[in-house]
Amino acid sequence: MKLFLDSAKTDEIRHALEMWDLDGITTNPRHVRDSGKPFRRVIAEIAELVGGTAKPVSVEVNPHLTQWREIVAEGRELAKLSPNFVVKVGASEGGFKAMRELAREGIRINATLVFSVAQAWHAARAGAAYISPFLGWKDQYGDDACGLVTEVRKLLNNFGYKAEIIAAAIRNSRQISDAAVAGAHCVTAALAVYQDSFRNPYTTLGEGIFQEAWDMTKE
Ligand code: E4P
Repeated sequence: MKLFLDSAKTDEIRHALEMWDLDGITTNPRHVRDSGKPFRRVIAEIAELVGGTAKPVSVEVNPHLTQWREIVAEGRELAKLSPNFVVKVGASEGGFKAMRELAREGIRINATLVFSVAQAWHAARAGAAYISPFLGWKDQYGDDACGLVTEVRKLLNNFGYKAEIIAAAIRNSRQISDAAVAGAHCVTAALAVYQDSFRNPYTTLGEGIFQEAWDMTKE
């Protein structure tokens, strides 16, 4: 399962590239806002960080756009900025039409804000390269989050759709493992979620036990 960082902060991206052999990056308007920089500037900085690699960077079209022609126009513009850019488009009737047009032109699409198998099916039919079910958001409201990944994976397998599932809005290590078992191709989470996933209190406890034993073996 590929590891994507969900962030638009360049210091976080640099760290993840250096330490984790990061597979890709996903951004959204909230992440861009949290970077404290304007959209165009921050995506240019991210493009530079991954320049010369094949690592995909999802950049979202203006979420106010509802007309498919406007989404297509902006998607084309974003795709031109970097070969790493994958255009993120929200699930909606106009969004699926825009995905189809952009995909026909060879532009990679990440279908975002996906909450049902039906939406994932429309995205797969439209030729999206990635489909992003927001697991953390579903979990928060008591919905079965990973069941969605299992079903979407089955849908893709049944019909041979090429899209990859990005398990998105991941909040903890349990959701990472649930997404992997359910068949997600990629997971995207915040830096802090991955940092937590490296640790476990038992590991810390064990290190203390072994250090103490080690110290008793000195000659
Ligand atoms: C995915 O691509 C999205 O950017 C993301 O996972 C949304 O989740 P958030 O609630 O963490 O912003």
